[in-house]
Amino acid sequence: MENSGGQTKNVGPLTQAQILSPSIENITLAAEAIQRGEVVGIPTETVYGLAGDCRNPLAITRIFETKERPSFDPLIVHVGPQGRSVQGLKQLRLIDATELSEPLCRMIDQLIEKFWPGPLTLVLPKHVDVSDLVTSGLPSVALRMPSHPVAQALIAASHTALAAPSANRFGRISPTTAKAVFEELGDRIDFILEGGPCQVGIESTVLRIDPMTSQPWILRHGGIPKELIEETLKVQVLDPLKDLAEPSASDSKQDLLSSGSPGMLASHYAPAKPLYLLPKEATQLQSSDLTEIESILTERPKIGLLLVSGNPDLASKHLAQITGCQVLARTLSLNGNPQEAARNLFAEMRFLDSSAASFILSETYLRPVLGLHHAIADRLKRASHR
Ligand code: TXA
Ligand code: MG
Repeated sequence: MENSGGQTKNVGPLTQAQILSPSIENITLAAEAIQRGEVVGIPTETVYGLAGDCRNPLAITRIFETKERPSFDPLIVHVGPQGRSVQGLKQLRLIDATELSEPLCRMIDQLIEKFWPGPLTLVLPKHVDVSDLVTSGLPSVALRMPSHPVAQALIAASHTALAAPSANRFGRISPTTAKAVFEELGDRIDFILEGGPCQVGIESTVLRIDPMTSQPWILRHGGIPKELIEETLKVQVLDPLKDLAEPSASDSKQDLLSSGSPGMLASHYAPAKPLYLLPKEATQLQSSDLTEIESILTERPKIGLLLVSGNPDLASKHLAQITGCQVLARTLSLNGNPQEAARNLFAEMRFLDSSAASFILSETYLRPVLGLHHAIADRLKRASHR
């Protein structure tokens, strides 16, 4: 981390956030703001977060207010290296390990060992000291150790764990650059730490491990594919949306579905413009595939086209031909690389949202989808929901 060239806070009537280079001075400045109970925009490897001291109720309230987030939607707590084991999380008074059996602790440690620091969030029984404001009254707390060096430096300098949701207004597209945080919250916060474009680009995977049965449940698909967790633990990871379809709801189903993961809200990650999912690859489209938007097309609008892979020029020519409209096309990855696609997803959604296009047509991955493709398809589906 550089030690010079940092900006400091301007005095004056500024109500706009400053984007601060991640110098030691600026990290100290941000840490002091955190210690005063303020909230700061920070980079992580997944998406940018809106961080505050997880022990300060005022800071937690500010996070909810700044994001306009409903209070039933709990926050993730970000820890430093001291929290990188069950024992460490216990010592930090973040989890209550009395509910966890020995084998279960070993299982959690295995996940931590393999995936932390990184984009896996673990939902574990909370310590009594963790405020209900953070967990929205749930008996569990969501925890992860970010790998981004600026996030790690800020956690260390703040001497606390940081509660941080994604730094977007509620329901909107998560920011993957400091500039995108500025667009979302620039009029509401003082500081945003610059950390470059996020390398993962989609949020962490949220995994709940049932303390009674030791069964892992995926509450949100994200940066760590479910299959990789299964490979590590050698057990099946269940998905409440798929594996709990029957009406014979168990208690744990009720718990899971009422746990308020916005990963589970139908509409989320949404651009301001309507986004429609295409039933096939853009280059294979025929006019008959577009009957749903036929009436809009008669006005010859400009179309934003989002490809999950492949060449945007070919696809835009084809779509222009069958619709007679101008098409602005973008691709998540020319050669279909899933990591690249995840990294570009939110930035490309933002790009098309702020373009001259009237609406967005988006490809998605068609079944069966595994790994990161699943997480991307999930976000596209929620972005398309109206
Ligand atoms: O990658 C990420 O996870 C980013 C970066 C900033 O770390 N954070 C993020 O936070 O995406 P947020 O607040 O946008 O999403 C947190 C998710 C939500 O789906 C929330 O409901 C879930 O975690 N969650 C938090 N605590 C929970 C709990 N105790 N039980 C179940 N779900 C929980
Ligand atoms: Mg979010």
